[in-house]
This record gives sequence, C-alpha cells and structure tokens, in this order.
Amino acid sequence: MAEPKERAAPNLSRINELIAETEGQKWPLIPLLQRIQEEFGYIPPEATQPVARALGLFPAQVQGVISFYTQLYTKPQGRNVVRVCRGTACHVRGGKTILKLVKQNLGIEEGETTPDYEYTLETVACIGVCALAPNIVVGTSTHGHMNPKKVAQLLRDRKGQE
Ligand code: FES
Repeated sequence: MAEPKERAAPNLSRINELIAETEGQKWPLIPLLQRIQEEFGYIPPEATQPVARALGLFPAQVQGVISFYTQLYTKPQGRNVVRVCRGTACHVRGGKTILKLVKQNLGIEEGETTPDYEYTLETVACIGVCALAPNIVVGTSTHGHMNPKKVAQLLRDRKGQE
C-alpha cells in the first residue's frame, strides 16, 4: 500500500501559486484542477473563483468540469482511495461479497471517507484485469484474487483496531 501522503490545508495564496504555474499553458484547466487536488486532496470551493478568473471562464464552467469528472473531488478524500471493481467478471467471482467486507472493515459506505481520513471507498467499472477477479485497487496498487482474508490483511483489519 502506498504511504499516506500529508496534505496541505487549502489556502488561497497556495491556490494562486498553483494558478501562476499554469501561465502560458494552452489547455490548463484540467491539469490545474488535478494539481490543486494533488496538493489538497480535493478541490476546495474557494479555488473555483480564482481559477475561473485566471482562465477567463465563468465559475459555473469550472464547477461543471469538476462535477463532470468523477476523479475530481469536491470533498476531502482519504489518504488511500479504495476502489472495489463492480465489473462483470469481478461480480461473478464474488465482488459483491468483497465490497461488503470492505465496507465492514472500514465502517463506511460507498462514496464515504473514514473519520480519520485514512480511507475513501468507491466502486469502479472493470479495471481491465478481469483474469485476477475479484479485484480491488488501493491508491495506485491493484490487488487481485481478493478473498476475505486478503481484504482483512490489506485494510489492516481496522475493525479489530477500533
Ligand atoms: S470486471 Fe473487474 S477487472 Fe474486469
């Protein structure tokens, strides 16, 4: 599992610095939003106005792009995003049970983040490694052939820690 990354608290001066870094780029909106998210873990609402102003857009256009892309977040995410595959191959090989176990281990539902911001739970369509089904992705690492024991190990059996 990837090491948790410390994230900065959103602040306007850092947002403005990130905006300044995109100066001269041809299509800077998406890279800029990704950069802001990388910095803060999500796109804070206070970023919308300065981003829109800098790029000559309406704030609603920036908001529209943020809500269109499912990988851009408007709420703080956990340091580890856990994505359970709900594609067909994973589903027929027990993906539903894996999702249930992940929910139980983390104590959250899909789309939620643990109170300590350690984990966010999402589901995804096929991630392209069906031969290893059922799969889950934690951060940037894919874990195949998931079973109850592996789920518990991977999530460090959080239920037992609390
Ligand atoms: S269905 Fe899960 S990886 Fe393809």
